[in-house]
Amino acid sequence: MPSDLNIEQYTSQFTDLDSERPLQLLADWVQEAKDLGIAEPDAMNLATVDEKGNPHNRMVLMRHITEREIGFFTNLNSSKAADIFATQRTSCTLWWPQLERQVRIEGTAAEMPRNIVEEYFQSRPRNSQIAAWASKQSTELTSMERLHEEFRQFELKFSDKIVPTPTFWGGFTIHVDKIEYWHGKPFRLHERVILTKEDNNWSTTRIYP
Ligand SMILES: Cc1cc2nc3c(=O)[nH]c(=O)nc-3n(C[C@H](O)[C@H](O)[C@H](O)COP(=O)(O)O)c2cc1C
Repeated sequence: MPSDLNIEQYTSQFTDLDSERPLQLLADWVQEAKDLGIAEPDAMNLATVDEKGNPHNRMVLMRHITEREIGFFTNLNSSKAADIFATQRTSCTLWWPQLERQVRIEGTAAEMPRNIVEEYFQSRPRNSQIAAWASKQSTELTSMERLHEEFRQFELKFSDKIVPTPTFWGGFTIHVDKIEYWHGKPFRLHERVILTKEDNNWSTTRIYP
């Protein structure tokens, strides 16, 4: 063994990886990032594809995770929603630089059941709820004054009432069919493992960095 490599670098970081529960390690890594106080530990880059095949990406917050799917919340009239309604395929990346970890996910998106949307929307801070009413996300806005004016109008409209969940606001679940865990190591000898769904079984493949 060359003297500047040590045994720790050969030790797999993925000993807990369980192909029966492909998203468990993702949930663990998000939790670890939260526990360390890392900002926006569930922020992910989300790529969608429009009907002409053009990719578009942006950040969203992964606010839903189960054994087989992840999810996020958004405006159902937004550009990303239009892409998803047109082509369904999505790809996401999460990255925690302090932990030298990356997760890449691919899957098919579908509109989230309304009960999950309602529960999440009602848990949000009141001003965020009002802002959701005021934003016609991804459409042209003439000025910031206009946005603030619309915010104030909805503030007045709902004054002492519970802010209802807008019908144009919702979420998407991504049914995951591929997930790659990446752990950075010295000398770019990074560790990568891909879990792929084939029919109803998951296979695990280790790949070169
Ligand atoms: C860290 C971060 C988190 C974000 N989270 C969300 C989110 O959860 N939902 C959302 O609709 N937009 C979120 N945004 C804004 C989006 O990146 C984007 O500007 C917006 O959704 C419009 O995207 P679209 O025009 O492609 O639909 C976030 C932005 C940042 C920088």
